[in-house]
Amino acid sequence: MDIKRLLDKMSLKEKLYQLQQLDSNVIMYDENMPVTGILQKLELDENYIFETGSLLNSFGAKRTIEIQKNFLMHSKNKIPTVIMQDVVRGYKTLYPINLGLSCSFDMDLCEKCASMAAKEASVDGVHMTFAPMLDVSRDARWGRVMETSGEDTYLTCEIAKATTRGFQGDGKTYGLGVGCKHMAGYGAPESGKDYNLSDMSEITLREIYLPPYKASIDEGAMLVMAGQQTLNGVPCVLNSHLMKDILRDEWGFDGIVISDYNCLASTVDHGYSESHKQAVELAMQSEMNMEMATTCVVKYGEELVNEGKVSIEQIDKAVLRILKVKEKLGLFENPYRYADPNEANKILGCKEHKELARIASEESAVLLKNDCVLPFSKDVKSVALIGPLADEKQIVGSWWCAYDKNETVTVLEGIKNLLPYVKINYAMGCGLELDATDISQIDEAVELAKESDIVILCVGEDMRDSGESKSKAFLELSPAQKELIRRVTESNKNTATVLFTGRPLVLTEENKTAGAILNVFFPGTEGGNAIANLLFGNSVPCGKLTMSFPHNVGQCPVYYNHFKTGNYRTDDTKRMVFKSGYIDGPNKPLYPFGYGLSYTDFEYSSHKISSDIINDNGKITASVKVKNIGKYKAKEIVQMYIQDLFGSVVRPVKELRGFKKIELSPNEEKTVEFEITEDTLAFVGADLKRKAEKGRFRIFIGNSSEIEPFAEFEYK
Ligand code: NOJ
Repeated sequence: MDIKRLLDKMSLKEKLYQLQQLDSNVIMYDENMPVTGILQKLELDENYIFETGSLLNSFGAKRTIEIQKNFLMHSKNKIPTVIMQDVVRGYKTLYPINLGLSCSFDMDLCEKCASMAAKEASVDGVHMTFAPMLDVSRDARWGRVMETSGEDTYLTCEIAKATTRGFQGDGKTYGLGVGCKHMAGYGAPESGKDYNLSDMSEITLREIYLPPYKASIDEGAMLVMAGQQTLNGVPCVLNSHLMKDILRDEWGFDGIVISDYNCLASTVDHGYSESHKQAVELAMQSEMNMEMATTCVVKYGEELVNEGKVSIEQIDKAVLRILKVKEKLGLFENPYRYADPNEANKILGCKEHKELARIASEESAVLLKNDCVLPFSKDVKSVALIGPLADEKQIVGSWWCAYDKNETVTVLEGIKNLLPYVKINYAMGCGLELDATDISQIDEAVELAKESDIVILCVGEDMRDSGESKSKAFLELSPAQKELIRRVTESNKNTATVLFTGRPLVLTEENKTAGAILNVFFPGTEGGNAIANLLFGNSVPCGKLTMSFPHNVGQCPVYYNHFKTGNYRTDDTKRMVFKSGYIDGPNKPLYPFGYGLSYTDFEYSSHKISSDIINDNGKITASVKVKNIGKYKAKEIVQMYIQDLFGSVVRPVKELRGFKKIELSPNEEKTVEFEITEDTLAFVGADLKRKAEKGRFRIFIGNSSEIEPFAEFEYK
């Protein structure tokens, strides 16, 4: 396809419609009834509707094919539309929420999960996904942490690469174009309130928040979605420094920049654009190419060109970028891409995908506490299954496309599947509301707990209380759920608490009252089966937290790779004066980044580095022996952290710079090695350049971020 020639043939209006993404609801697939009433509200021109560049959300393979046919029939220049959707954690088969999956530290698994999602979505008609979501977030109050990979940039970059590869698929039989989001700093809203400003230094932006988007782009992402918030005073979508200087000029990104839902129009609400018309003028300057949902560009584009405020070259550049992405996706040769109703019938929600989802749920679970309660023996005679989430389909967690919640395996179902002959005594115990105080059903739950061999207590968040716009000022469980945990655990010491959550919660009290806490986040389609396997030892928990769990909400944002301060507080257990810290609590979180228990124990020994000097272009190797000294075959996530002792700007107390997931049988020992090069030491310095600075470094290898260094070396 000669894109340039195609562009030359297009009228200005046709070009402007290419810059539009419409919610699919606006378009009907019936040829004789191409538009709905919403069209009028959006002030769209019916004659150009089939020139619309993109649609948000598919209708399934069959209808999507019909829609595309309609486009090709009516579009003057026969330009296919591109169908984009939020395929963020599966499509028909759901794996755990992204925050959960990140705790697996398993890049192969992340890639496989994305690939499975791409298979299902692409045969069902989707061309591009708005994923991966790569907003680093350190604040548990923000509801969208559930969509992130947690607080660490290095890990998020690794996940960005793996999932971008996975979504792109094999490119022959399936695959999605990748659109990473939300550039940039959307995960750092002040006070944890969604859509609130993010304000940060250029160094923090470049060091902490930007690298994951860059990693996804380098791996092939074709689209970048702008954040919904203002970054350093300018709405992301109109932020020329971000979108032009950095994304286009420094990184050379030539794909599509899309505004988030309604976000171009809402720059007026931010008090940045004077009017929707001016927003379009500014958007052309910051090189936004596509407008999602609102229709400012098609409304005001022509007027702005006539007034000389927007040049035809600016419009052409934007259209060209969109056409190029369509070309890259192969839409001109095959406008339906992989859409195939028969194939969709075969693979959506198929057995193989469910199996992968179950494995992902098991690998994502993090054992937070275990006073010899877990694993349970499969020989138990009776189980008390208690809690508002014990027989709930909503444990799947939110954000899905073609899913039917009823397909979720509940905990009750999972336990019945695993242990069909065991007596299960079920009680809800209390409600799930955020502020539930009704404890009238707890007595019944306590009675059941007393008369059963073991208790499984399923508590946590309502799935609707995390996600977009679900910020929280309190991070504790409801008073009723707390009371339930306290009383049930008191009445039967063999109680395991299973926690469902979209974010780190404050579990300070539960850490004292509960005997065991297994955090499964929102585990997806196969949640119940995975949980049964984990509780009864068919599978051993191995996940490590990717976001710190605070002691109390006042600590937020709390994260492991913070800077040192003057008057640094060295002892967290007592009140210290004239130190940087709280007088009424610790600085450290309750459960730190990288933390997670197992049913077995691992012994770390023989920490070594191959040299205590590293030169330019040189490398050294750090190694450790890890031995399984417990009874269960299990996986361990071995983590390497580095501390740069001095720099042109202050450096964090430690930073994750490597991890390896290994599996060991009882008594088995493995040596784990990490390579350290100049790149391992690089950071964004005072001159805003990323490079390693000469000096001394400390190295740590162990099983969480709260470990001590074992050696120092010098970069000379
Ligand atoms: C708004 C969300 O912020 C974004 O993540 C999503 O991709 C769009 N809506 C489209 O659904």
